[in-house]
Order: sequence, then C-alpha cells, then structure tokens
Amino acid sequence: MGIKVATSILSADFAKLGEEVRKISDLGVDFIHIDVMDGNFVPNITIGPGVISAIRKYSNLPFDVHLMVKSPSDHIESFINAGADIITIHAEAEIHIERLIRKIKSYKNVNDTKKTVLVGVSIVPSTPPNVLEYVIHDLDTVLIMTVNPGFGGQEFIHSQLSKILAVKKMIQERGLKTQISVDGGVSILNAADIIKAGADILVAGSAIFRAENIKKAVNDLKNLPL
Ligand code: DX5
Ligand code: ZN
Repeated sequence: MGIKVATSILSADFAKLGEEVRKISDLGVDFIHIDVMDGNFVPNITIGPGVISAIRKYSNLPFDVHLMVKSPSDHIESFINAGADIITIHAEAEIHIERLIRKIKSYKNVNDTKKTVLVGVSIVPSTPPNVLEYVIHDLDTVLIMTVNPGFGGQEFIHSQLSKILAVKKMIQERGLKTQISVDGGVSILNAADIIKAGADILVAGSAIFRAENIKKAVNDLKNLPL
C-alpha cells in the first residue's frame, strides 16, 4: 500500500479555513491533521473544538486532532464531540497515558457511530521511543515529531530518522498494525528517507500549503520513486 498523506492545516489561510479544508480534501490527501496548541505545552496558541466543528462539514476525510496541550484528559471529550476521528495525545503531557488511551478508545466516533475513536500517541524529538513499549499494542498510530512542536515551517531534525526505525522495529517485532506518522519539516526533499525508515503517514503543512502548485505537491509526496 502506498504512503498516506495528512495535511496539517496550520499553514492554511485561517481567514478562509473551511474553503482551504475543502480544497485540500479534493486533492487526494488521506487525513486532515489539526494542530491544537494551548500556549502552555507549546508556546503557540491555535484552534479549539469550536473551529473544528465549524470546518467538519467541509471534508469527509478523517480528522486527526493532534493535541499539543497540557492535561489532554480535560479536553478529549470536546474534541471528539467536535468531530475528531483520531485523537493524538502527547506522552510528555500526561503521566497516565495508558488510562487515557483506554478512555479515548471507549468513545464512539460522532461521524460514524459504528466506529470508535482512534488513538495516537506522539513523542517530541527528545523523548526516547521506549516510552511507547507498554502501550504501543493499544495504539492506532504513533506520531513521531520531527520538529519541536509549536510552529509550522520548521526544519526537519535528522536525528529522528533512527527513532522512526526503532519504532518500526517495535511494531514489527510485536506483529502490530500500528501506523507510524511523521510530523514536522516533511518535504519532497526528505520524504523518501522518512518512508524508507518506516513511515506510513507523512504529515505535511508548509510543503503543501506554501507550494506553488498544491495539487502537484500532494501528488509528488504520494508518488515518490523509492
Ligand atoms: C508542529 C505541528 C506540525 C506542523 C507541520 O507543532 O505539529 O503538524 O504544523 O507543519 P510543517 O509541515 O510546516 O512542518
Ligand atoms: Zn501536528
């Protein structure tokens, strides 16, 4: 199966976010990646559940809500009610991730009540992959941050390639279906290395929204010669 692309809307034009989400959803991307920042876990503040519920009707693609917030357990319900299909929490933001993972999986997906909400855990560049060892079997995705979270348009941190390899090995050794998503500084220049290391999903914001030809940027990421 080919590589999947999640578009981070952090680099979209927020003045017309609904239209931006609609436009990108028609270009063959697989997920809408929504960066929620609280000005506490990370220095930036972005969007909350109200905005997510407002843009929900502009796309049928799964919404992956990447919670870069302190105390994510206080907020998951409002993001699920806003239409999140996947809730991604940070291992660094919650001591009891095992409990929170179970809690997230106990919710029905409001977009399709036959499904449950999917769960991802993200780790920042300085966090070693072994924090995932005792929870990875419960995860739909691991989101490996390849920049320090907070802003779009940052430079990819190359040391994270070996972490992608390590997480891939963990998944393969356990025979799991957990997907690896790679987020931060992803571009056409480094995507092949990221895929070879083991990524299943590329998260890209500026590489898509700041491209001269957005359709070509999506196509190029999805059809890289490897
Ligand atoms: C960073 C966010 C990323 C980021 C990706 O904190 O989690 O999703 O917006 O943007 P680019 O692709 O521009 O690095
Ligand atoms: Zn993100």
